[in-house]
Amino acid sequence: MKAKITLAKEFKIGEIDNRIYGSFIEHLGRAVYGGIYEPGHPTADEDGFRQDVLDLVKKLNVPIVRYPGGNFVSGYNWEDGVGPVENRPTRLDLAWNTTEPNTFGTNEFMKWCKKANSDCMMAVNLGTRGPEEARNLVEYMNHKGNSAWSDLRKAHGYDEPWGVKLWCLGNEMDGRWQMGAKTATDYGLIANEASKMMKWTDDSIETVLCGSSSRNSPTFGQWEQTSLEIAYDSIDYVSLHQYYGNHDDDTPSFLARTLELEEFIYTVICVCDYVKAKKRSNKTINLSFDEWNVWYHSNNAPHKPWDYAPPRLEDIYNFEDALLIGAMLITLLRHCDRIKIACLAQLVNVIAPIFTQTGGGIFKQTIFYPFEHLSNFGKGVALNPIINCPKYDCKAFTDVPYLESIATYDEENEELVIFCVNKSQEDGAVIDVNLLDFEGYKPKEFISMDGYDKNAENGIDNPFVKPHLNELPTMENSVATVAVKPFSWNVIKFGK
Ligand code: AHR
Repeated sequence: MKAKITLAKEFKIGEIDNRIYGSFIEHLGRAVYGGIYEPGHPTADEDGFRQDVLDLVKKLNVPIVRYPGGNFVSGYNWEDGVGPVENRPTRLDLAWNTTEPNTFGTNEFMKWCKKANSDCMMAVNLGTRGPEEARNLVEYMNHKGNSAWSDLRKAHGYDEPWGVKLWCLGNEMDGRWQMGAKTATDYGLIANEASKMMKWTDDSIETVLCGSSSRNSPTFGQWEQTSLEIAYDSIDYVSLHQYYGNHDDDTPSFLARTLELEEFIYTVICVCDYVKAKKRSNKTINLSFDEWNVWYHSNNAPHKPWDYAPPRLEDIYNFEDALLIGAMLITLLRHCDRIKIACLAQLVNVIAPIFTQTGGGIFKQTIFYPFEHLSNFGKGVALNPIINCPKYDCKAFTDVPYLESIATYDEENEELVIFCVNKSQEDGAVIDVNLLDFEGYKPKEFISMDGYDKNAENGIDNPFVKPHLNELPTMENSVATVAVKPFSWNVIKFGK
């Protein structure tokens, strides 16, 4: 197929907030135990953190990591996870039907974040607990000293406050599976009080109100409106969560899910702005897309109740998943004027780009690569390319463009990068990329992932699905001619 992409500096969507490349670690399965934390592992450091995991997390370049859940946080007593390890209680985790030893907790996570070059996005329990325990945690984490909770932190060996700036007000409180699930009104009230008290404890923090657990939630829309009307003045962001799966083995529909994602984002922005208008407010609420991924491969995996760190939600990703992850991240960037935070859920072992064997090796899942490319190269501002390409119809959608693309422009480093997914399983595309006012810019690097079966997966002994370099595209005047393969992920870097 023939296609055209036109780009100019004026096609600016917005500055990219680096936190859009965030991720998530929950006390779930082997994310913590056997994932980031495994004392006794050959690569474990003095804190019991797996160095092989830290190395890959750093490659992935994740600026912020949400913790400790997820569903887990709605039954979590944060006090169980601080202080001398020998005094910490073992608890039943009702979210995931497992046993939580609490040998890893908040301070361990903060230490891990420092080593991973990440900030923490901390979630508080508004399921079984409330504003009081939430503000106590802010005091424990962020207050300098001379108060009961901050002095307790010091007594635990952490003299300096951690200074956590971003806080989630619970998790998926609309979901019937959530411990302490609430109506939108009840949640709005408790979130408002918690946020007020947390900010009175530390006025430098920002808070995230729980939006719906997905676009398919029966109360989607009404939930956001009601809770926002109550808590608007005291919160800063509203959350979105969405997972996709190719349940019917219908790849064209699976890859077209970004159309639905686009509409989901647009609707949440509209609800935020509707409430803003209704309140005659000058404040704009931005979006925190703090759970997104492909999740379905592991749905029917059996598990024994109350195991310690059992393998749960261990999706092994294939090549078509990598293409959707690239397309989803492109869609998030298309809204970077409003989406300031996003978290690929999750980071290690549990629906994750990094996979470990407990006591053994590690490998990069297929989805690792598009995320790595965007988080490392997608800097500066996002530009909305004008894309002219053929479209297709499938079971779930009509008029799906075969090409999904975004450009990022880092003015300071004079780097323009185009990210592009070709969703066609049959046809490659010859794309004329017209760089209108990027005088002197030439192709510098062309990376792609292509040529794999849609079901191709990576494993410990077969990490074969990975990117490769291509010959540079030719360029005449301001037009580069880029040939992308069928069913491919592509990164084209331009510089002076
Ligand atoms: O990421 C896995 C789970 O998905 C999280 O615990 C929950 O918030 C969501 O339903």
